[in-house]
Amino acid sequence: MTGRRRACRLAILVGVVLVGAVACSYPGADVPYVQTPHEVVAEMLRLAGVGRDDVVYDLGSGDGRLVIAAARDFGARGAGVEIDPKLVALSIENARRAGVGDRVTFREGDLFQTDLSPATVVTLYLSPELNLRLRPKFERELWAGARIVSHDYGMGDWAPERTVRMEVRGRVSYIHLWTVPPTPAIPSHLAR
Ligand SMILES: C[S@@+](CC[C@H](N)C(=O)[O-])C[C@H]1O[C@@H](n2cnc3c(N)ncnc32)[C@H](O)[C@@H]1O
Repeated sequence: MTGRRRACRLAILVGVVLVGAVACSYPGADVPYVQTPHEVVAEMLRLAGVGRDDVVYDLGSGDGRLVIAAARDFGARGAGVEIDPKLVALSIENARRAGVGDRVTFREGDLFQTDLSPATVVTLYLSPELNLRLRPKFERELWAGARIVSHDYGMGDWAPERTVRMEVRGRVSYIHLWTVPPTPAIPSHLAR
């Protein structure tokens, strides 16, 4: 293990124990690993109205907490995509321990290469730039009525329909919600 990796692993252990939030980057990751507090996870899923019929995708799924909470506490199914294989292994173990291993999947991969069409809810904790880069993919691949819920970051000029402010252990979080609108009908003079 390199010194950097060892330091990162130590930071994760110390961060989890002391403050519940850490920042570590896997090579090739577009944003570092920072955990959403569990209280914020629950509020994100509540705000999105997650239920038994939903399929929740977390893009950059970290230790799997959003997908696992969606299955364990809201009865949904879910999938996480994560670039760091160690976090994928941790997520699979966490899901098994939570008793939802049969309702969730975790895959090592690039979130930009993930087909989102099965998702009814997408959860994000990325960055304003990544959210903006994802917007055309959401418009192409998500069905009308799908919800997108983002911890802290917006999506350019696509104004969220709701924003909730939360404070957890002195740290302020914002949660933004969008619903994918119906595709505009093709104007009759363009339709074949
Ligand atoms: C801020 S963390 C959020 C983790 C988790 N979703 C949460 O809210 O607790 C962002 C995660 O995205 C992952 N990530 C960054 N770039 C990625 C990419 N291109 N494809 C897949 N995962 C990526 C990072 O490794 C990190 O675990």
